Amino acid sequence: MIRVGVLGARGRMGSVVCQAVRSAADLELVAEVGSGDPLDALAGCDVAVDFTKPAAVLDNLRWCVAHGTDLVIGTSGFDETRLAEAHDIIASGRAGATGPRVLVVPNFSVGAVLMMRFAEQAARFFESAEVIELHHARKADAPSGTAVRTATMIANARAAAGLGPGPDATVTQLDGARGANAGGVHVHSVRLPGLVAHQEVLLGGPGEILTIRHDSLDRASFMPGVLAAVRGIGTLQPGLSVGLDGLLGLA
Ligand SMILES: NC(=O)c1ccc[n+]([C@@H]2O[C@H](COP(=O)([O-])OP(=O)(O)OC[C@H]3O[C@@H](n4cnc5c(N)ncnc54)[C@H](O)[C@@H]3O)[C@@H](O)[C@H]2O)c1
Repeated sequence: MIRVGVLGARGRMGSVVCQAVRSAADLELVAEVGSGDPLDALAGCDVAVDFTKPAAVLDNLRWCVAHGTDLVIGTSGFDETRLAEAHDIIASGRAGATGPRVLVVPNFSVGAVLMMRFAEQAARFFESAEVIELHHARKADAPSGTAVRTATMIANARAAAGLGPGPDATVTQLDGARGANAGGVHVHSVRLPGLVAHQEVLLGGPGEILTIRHDSLDRASFMPGVLAAVRGIGTLQPGLSVGLDGLLGLA
């Protein structure tokens, strides 16, 4: 039985995670920590799961490192700078052979992880690739982190294959009409009430288009990934890991 504690337990994601852990026969929910609750509630946990907010997550990380508790992080905001900060916290704590494992997962949706992998695999076979991401109107950042990551993976695959920029005869345009440019791959953001979280990768070549589309329709879509992370984190090397790919056998 893996003993699990959830940070942000009363939030939108945290409450669904608590339910998923309660429903899993091999997991035991031993701590539900909300804002202002003492972190000592996590003392009996094998694994903590953080769905709080960017301003809170590093303090939670420090506690887990100090107490040797493995930590799965879903909270967003882990760009390169923040990952380096997390790495320093782990290195200055109990990291090493006996230190805890910390797994940062930018996207727990298995479908989204596969979409990125498929796009990366397909990228070298097509002259052009563009990404369209579509989200609800309350989203603060554009493009989404997943779209930027997808574009970067496509750009790296294209570069490795020796592909240059795709054909584009545009000479006049309204500002932004061709979208953001992430590593040479254009990314278009749509914001509409009624949408949840969706993404299309369009790959074009002579006479054909390959479209890879993923739709997240409910927070339930994240739970198989969260549970895979909770079950699998104990198999990782101590220290910092990023992404679900390794645990899904995709690395
Ligand atoms: N990685 C993924 O796949 C994924 C998916 C969905 C959401 N997220 C991210 O997860 C985070 C949470 O999202 P949400 O929609 O549940 O937000 P939310 O605001 O509904 O929930 C966050 C909860 O954390 C609590 N909290 C804040 N500080 C805390 C602290 N120090 N200790 C304990 N609890 C604390 C808040 O009171 C709130 O209840 C966000 O950063 C979001 O972007 C990631």
